[in-house]
Amino acid sequence: MNMIILVLLSLPLIVSGLFGTSLSVCVKDNQPTQIRLAFIPNGMTVSWTTSSNANSPTSVVKYGLSKTNLNKQASGYVTTYGTSNFHNVLLKGLTPNTIYYYQIAASGTVGTSGKYSFKTAPEPSNGQFTVTILGDWGSTQIVPLIKTPKGPMCTCSGDTLKALKKKLSSTDFFWHLGDAAYADDFYLNNHDFSSLLHHPYEGLLDNFQCTLQPLSSTKSYMILPGNHEVKCNEIPIIDDHCPKPTTNFSTFLDRYRMPGIESGGFSNLWYSFDYGLVHFAIINTETDFPSSPSGPGTSLDGGNFISNTAQLKWLENDLKKANNRRAQIPWIIVGGHRPFYSSSPDSICEACKTAFEPILIKYKVDMYFSGHAHWYERIYPIKNGKFNKNSNSYTHPTGIIHLTTGAAGNPECSESQHSPASYSANISYQCSFGQLRINSRTNAKWTVFDTTASNKIIDEININIKH
Ligand SMILES: [Fe+2]
Repeated sequence: MNMIILVLLSLPLIVSGLFGTSLSVCVKDNQPTQIRLAFIPNGMTVSWTTSSNANSPTSVVKYGLSKTNLNKQASGYVTTYGTSNFHNVLLKGLTPNTIYYYQIAASGTVGTSGKYSFKTAPEPSNGQFTVTILGDWGSTQIVPLIKTPKGPMCTCSGDTLKALKKKLSSTDFFWHLGDAAYADDFYLNNHDFSSLLHHPYEGLLDNFQCTLQPLSSTKSYMILPGNHEVKCNEIPIIDDHCPKPTTNFSTFLDRYRMPGIESGGFSNLWYSFDYGLVHFAIINTETDFPSSPSGPGTSLDGGNFISNTAQLKWLENDLKKANNRRAQIPWIIVGGHRPFYSSSPDSICEACKTAFEPILIKYKVDMYFSGHAHWYERIYPIKNGKFNKNSNSYTHPTGIIHLTTGAAGNPECSESQHSPASYSANISYQCSFGQLRINSRTNAKWTVFDTTASNKIIDEININIKH
C-alpha cells in the first residue's frame, strides 16, 4: 500500500549522515552472496551478488548430478549499478524432476561459493507439487526498527522467515507476489542506519536478499513487481536523497532474473513458466496498461517499458497458447501484485480489473493470486462481479478463485479493519503465507498458515475443477 502522508512528519528527521557510500555488511568483497535460483524452460538461472569493490570479471557455475563431480560448467553475464555486481548464469538443457548440485566458481578476487543443490521442474506426467506463496514481506532489518508498531504485522517479518525455513523441505518453490524488502520505506522511521554502512535503500535491498539465501539457494524464488519495487521512495519530495539510478524498477530489474526473455514477456515484469501440471502467468499490475496505478504521470512515474498495450497483447497470446494445450497442462494460474476484488476498498485495482479480468475469463484461468492488501483474503469464485456463495463453491467453480496473501509482515503493518465485502469468504489479519498443493489434473488444496504460530492453519480449501 502507499504511505503518502506519514513521511511528511518524518522528513525533518532525515539526516544527511544516512547517505554514505560504504558497502552493506552483507555484501562481501571476497565471496558471492545473495545466491538465488529462478526457473527457465528446461533449466535454472543461478544468480548472485558481489561487491563492486571486488574484481569478479567472470560469472561461472560448475554443476552436475553428483556433489563430488561437478563435471559441467556454464558462463553467464553481470550487470552493475551502485555498490554491487549482479551475476546471472543460465543452466540450460537440464533433465526434468532431477536433483543437480552446483557451485559458483572463483573469479578474480572472489572465492568459490559453497555447494548447493536444486531439483528441476517436473513434466506434467509427474506433476504433483507444492508452491509456497506470500506477499508484502519486508526486510527483517527494517521491521524491528519501527517506532510505533501497530499490531503483530509490523514485527512478524522474522517469524515469517523462520516459518518459511521450516517449510523448505515441503515446498518445491517460492512465489513472492510483490512488495519485497520495503526498502523505500526507510524514510518512515528515524533510525540509526549506520549498521547498514551505505545508503539504507541499497542496504535494505541487500539485507533482504541475503536473508533469502537459505531459501533461494536451493528452491526457485519466483517474484513479481509491486509498487514498492518501482523506485527509491514513494514521495517525490525526497527524490534528491535517493541513490541513482533507483527509479522505474531499476533495482528490481537488476537484482532478480525471471524468465521474461524465455516466455516472450518483459524481464521480471511480465512472464510465464510451466511447472508440472500448471502454467503460471505473471502480470505487472503497476505499469504498462491503460490507467496503470504506477504508470507515467503518477507519483511513482514508472513504465511504460514498451507501450500500454504490449503486456495485454502478450498475456492474451500467452494464455491462448496455454488454454490450447490444457490436455497436457490443465491448470492455469495468474499472479499479480494488486487484487481485482478486495474488502479493502483502497486496495482494489479497478484499472487492473478492467485491463486483465476479461483476458483471464476468456481463457478460463483457474486462480488469481495477489498481495498489496496487508492481510489474507479469500474471495468466492467470481467473474465480472458475479459470484457463487455456498459451501461447495470450490467444486467446479463458476468463476475464478481470487486469493490475496499480503500478510508476510511489513513496516506498514496490517490492513485497517474493514467489513467483509459480499463476495468475501474469509479474512485474516494474522501474519501468514499459503501453500498450494497440486494433487492431480482436477484437484488442488490451498492451505494458509499463521507465521507466528507454526503450522496453525488459518484457512484451507479443497479445489476440484474439471479441466
Ligand atoms: Fe503494494
